[in-house]
Amino acid sequence: MHNRPFGATGFSTLPIGLGCWQLGNGWDGAFDQAEAVATMNQAVESGVRFFDTADVYSGGESEAAIGRFLKTAREQIFVATKIGRWGEPGWPGNFSSAAMHAHVEATLRRLQVSTIDLLQLHCIPPEVLAAGEVFETLRNLRQAGKIRFFGASVESVEEGLSCLAQPGCASLQVILNILRQKPLDVLLPAAQRAGVAIIVRLPLASGLLTGKLRADTVFNATDHRSFNRDGAAFNVGETFAGLPYAVAIELIEQLRSKVPAGMSMADMSLRWLLDQSAVSVVIPGASRALQIRANVAVAALPALAPELHAWLRIFYREKVVAHIRGPN
Ligand SMILES: NC(=O)c1ccc[n+]([C@@H]2O[C@H](COP(=O)([O-])OP(=O)(O)OC[C@H]3O[C@@H](n4cnc5c(N)ncnc54)[C@H](OP(=O)(O)O)[C@@H]3O)[C@@H](O)[C@H]2O)c1
Repeated sequence: MHNRPFGATGFSTLPIGLGCWQLGNGWDGAFDQAEAVATMNQAVESGVRFFDTADVYSGGESEAAIGRFLKTAREQIFVATKIGRWGEPGWPGNFSSAAMHAHVEATLRRLQVSTIDLLQLHCIPPEVLAAGEVFETLRNLRQAGKIRFFGASVESVEEGLSCLAQPGCASLQVILNILRQKPLDVLLPAAQRAGVAIIVRLPLASGLLTGKLRADTVFNATDHRSFNRDGAAFNVGETFAGLPYAVAIELIEQLRSKVPAGMSMADMSLRWLLDQSAVSVVIPGASRALQIRANVAVAALPALAPELHAWLRIFYREKVVAHIRGPN
């Protein structure tokens, strides 16, 4: 009932999908197959049909668990995966044509399918993106029937715009949330005009926009919110949307009084995204089944009031944007 078209692909989906980075472990260590199955079952029972994963998540375990799940699922699931951040020869050598073909074969084996629904470049170096050969490889993979559609997960608006110029690019995955609004200005309207689907990652800014994190919250050492909070391991923007943790906690306090009655802060944050017409699917990661039910329910909520939208735009421009680190 609340489905949206996924760009110009002909596929449509509930605009809440499942982010599978933390599938089966919640960023807290060893992969738990039973937990992964429970999460996917809850997602499908809730109406979710769009899963986002990557070869690198839990060292291939996320893709492999999805592959096993697809064998038993009665509903059709659309799987978006990514290559480039894992395996030999490493990053950025993984974006050579030979490496991409090898990584696609490995993903096909883990997913136990003959065709990948959507293959995304996983945060490609800007100079490799600009050279454009990767897209030729993607078009060849599509021609060969290895992938149905291709797209890119990007770090910045500039990278996103260069992907839009590539024939056949079906989707862009971007960081977008109340604390990270830059794509709204130019990139999303351009994608909408081009019929390119927008997948939103970090919709809850790694959990900040649930309002449940505190200044003294302790994260497990295996959780990127511990080891990458200042960008020590990968792009700083992928953790807390690039905000220094202490600053982010203060900003969240300023949002609390704005949460509409009857909604949680997570509800407001996801609804804010669904109110953007260029957004095709939002992929909150979930560490517990309960979170999935709550996140999916947001698709049925009414839009936020125009006054709240206006206030959140000003809040971002006046209080947030100056603190964002990393490509944006
Ligand atoms: N470079 C890339 O392409 C890239 C990078 C990052 C993410 N992604 C994709 O995007 C997905 C989403 O991003 P993300 O997981 O990093 O960030 P996120 O969706 O903003 O935050 C996920 C975290 O929010 C909390 N949460 C979710 N729903 C909740 C609810 N209803 N109530 C309370 N807490 C809730 C959980 O925290 P707790 O674990 O503390 O419970 C969960 O781990 C990932 O799973 C992955 O598929 C892609």
